[in-house]
Amino acid sequence: MIVLGIETSCDETGLALYDSERGLLADALHSQVALHADYGGVVPELASRDHVQKALPLLRQVLDEAGIGAADIDGVAWTAGPGLVGALLVGAALGRSLAFAWGVPGVGVHHMEGHLLAPMLEDPAPEFPFVALLVSGGHTQLVEVAGVGRYRLLGESLDDAAGEAFDKTAKLLGLGYPGGPAVAKLAEQGRPGRFDFPRPMVNRPGLDFSFSGLKTYTMNTLREEEARCAGDAERGQLAADIALAFETAVVETLAIKCRRALDETGLRRLVVAGGVSANRRLRGRLEAEVARLGAAVYYPRPAFCTDNGAMIAYAGWQRLRVGASEPLAFNARPRWGLEELSPPC
Ligand code: KG4
Ligand code: ZN
Repeated sequence: MIVLGIETSCDETGLALYDSERGLLADALHSQVALHADYGGVVPELASRDHVQKALPLLRQVLDEAGIGAADIDGVAWTAGPGLVGALLVGAALGRSLAFAWGVPGVGVHHMEGHLLAPMLEDPAPEFPFVALLVSGGHTQLVEVAGVGRYRLLGESLDDAAGEAFDKTAKLLGLGYPGGPAVAKLAEQGRPGRFDFPRPMVNRPGLDFSFSGLKTYTMNTLREEEARCAGDAERGQLAADIALAFETAVVETLAIKCRRALDETGLRRLVVAGGVSANRRLRGRLEAEVARLGAAVYYPRPAFCTDNGAMIAYAGWQRLRVGASEPLAFNARPRWGLEELSPPC
C-alpha cells in the first residue's frame, strides 16, 4: 500500500510517499525558517499562505522522485492537529481533495502520533511497548505506548515546552529563530562549571515538567552578569556559558524524568522524538542513562526529528491499512490530546 503524507501544522511543508512493502519512497520538505526569521517566530497567516504555494510543487517532486503516478497511490494522510488552524486547514483541504479526486481513502493524523511513530521508519525499529519522550516546540510529554493509538500520558509540561524554552532563550541571547539549534551551537563554546542552573521539578515526585522558571532564571543571570562584562569578548563568552548552562539543565531534567518513567513503568525501551530530539547533548546524555539501566533508546534520523511528511505518511498508513477512511467533511483540530486517540480498528 502506498500512502501520501502531508504535513502543514506549523512552519514546514512536508510531503512524503510511504510504501508498506518497500518503505519510504520519497520525502520532500520546504522549511519556512527564512520567511519568519525577521519576525523572531512563526507568523500564522504567512505560514498558511506559504503552505498553499509550496504543497503542490512538493507533491510533483515526491511523485517524480518515487517514479510513480497519482494512480499508484492507495491512500492519503494529512496532519489534522494539533497546530496552527490555518496551516492545518491547508493540508487537510489538500489531502481530503486529493483522496476524493483519486478515489482512495483519506485520514487526518495526530501530529504528535506522527512524531511518536517516526522512529518506526528506522532500522532497528522499536517494538511495543515503550516509553516515549516527545519534545517539540509545542509539547513536552512522557507517554506510555502500548501500541498504535494506545497511549497513556505519564507527564507533561505545565507551562513552556522544551523547544519553546530553547526558542525563548535564543531570543534572550540575541540568536535567531528557531532557537534550539542556535543555542546548541553556541553552547559548544561554553565553559562547563561557570553556572549551575536549576533542574526544574526534579525534586518533586511525578513526571510533569516546568520550564518557564528556568527561562526566568536564565534571563536574570544574563542581566546580572552582563552588567559586569568589560567588552564584547566577555559578553560573547557569557552568552556561550549561559547557553551551555541552560542546555545542560534542560537535558538533565529530561534525562532524570526519562529514568523515572522507565523505572515506574518497568519498560526498557525509550523512544525520543520531536524537534528537540535532534539535540546532540540530549542524545549523549540519554544514551548513558539507558545504558546504566540496561535499556535501549530509539530516535528518528535527524531529518525526521523535526516536522516532516514521512512520519505523517507512516502514521496514516497504520490506520489506512485496517480500512480507516474519513468522510468528505474535514476539519482541523488545533488542540487535540494524544490520549483521545484510539487504536486503529
Ligand atoms: O517538532 P518540531 O519540528 O515542531 C513542533 O512540532 O513544534 O520542533 C521544533 C522545536 C523548536 O522549538 C526548535 O527550537 C527545537 O525543536 N529544536 C531543537 C533542536 N533542533 C530543533 N532544540 C534543541 N536542540 C536542537 N538541536
Ligand atoms: Zn512537530
